[in-house]
Amino acid sequence: MAKRIDVKDLDIYYGKFHAVDSVTLSVPPRNVTAFIGPSGCGKSTVLRTLNRMHEVIPGARVDGDVLLDGENIYASNVDPVQVRRTIGMVFQRPNPFPTMSIKDNVVAGLKLAGGAGNRKQLDEIAERALRGANLWNEVKDRLNKPGGGLSGGQQQRLCIARAIAVRPDVLLMDEPCSALDPISTLAIEDLIGELKKDYTIVIVTHNMQQAARVSDQTAFFNLAGVGQPGRLVELNDTEKIFSNPNEKATEDYISGRFG
Ligand SMILES: Nc1ncnc2c1ncn2[C@@H]1O[C@H](COP(=O)(O)OP(=O)(O)O)[C@@H](O)[C@H]1O
Ligand SMILES: [Mg+2]
Repeated sequence: MAKRIDVKDLDIYYGKFHAVDSVTLSVPPRNVTAFIGPSGCGKSTVLRTLNRMHEVIPGARVDGDVLLDGENIYASNVDPVQVRRTIGMVFQRPNPFPTMSIKDNVVAGLKLAGGAGNRKQLDEIAERALRGANLWNEVKDRLNKPGGGLSGGQQQRLCIARAIAVRPDVLLMDEPCSALDPISTLAIEDLIGELKKDYTIVIVTHNMQQAARVSDQTAFFNLAGVGQPGRLVELNDTEKIFSNPNEKATEDYISGRFG
């Protein structure tokens, strides 16, 4: 549960394209870190290297280290499938299995990992995850109905329930609210505040108010120009980033002068 992340000198490539240059950052446990910056600066790319999802793209590779509580997730003896299990990901568009029941959606990851128990244990895990995702009260009478029948906001909380059902150490979220209405967005933001008690969370958001509301520290990424690699410009306490950042580029971005 809730582990620390240390990224050291991470360079990220898509084939010959150097997408992200030399990122070094740390995320303490039980902390929410927001990634902000203009489109194309590498926020999603960096996020996907934190659970080894980047390398599933043909030609994609990384150079550098990502440590989870001091253990390098890129070490040669580490199984990337196991890494993706302990470092869960929630995507921009909710992606439940639409015809699968709500309950089966929640425990889908456990079944894939071969860690499923008997029916009663699965019911308990599903309830705990749905409660953890603030969705239980809305779905407890329709657990056997298809996941695709839920609203967008409910589907995203269902995906969060699926991610936490396997008891990960870290939750990565890539613009998890960008397809949601404002009420559902607030529900997810409240949930992130709750989940922070148990998990280490990294969230990419294009919404600076959201970064200010949900995160403890904020990483501002930028790129010098088209075809140039993205860089981490500044990582600081969220309050500092939004009131008195160290770098002029951060100031220009948060005050809306570009991006
Ligand atoms: N699958 C891919 N193949 C090649 N280049 C990619 C791929 N995904 C992203 N990129 C490139 O990497 C850079 C960073 O993209 P991305 O991480 O998606 O930025 P952000 O999330 O900050 O908008 C961009 O130049 C983008 O075009
Ligand atoms: Mg992105």
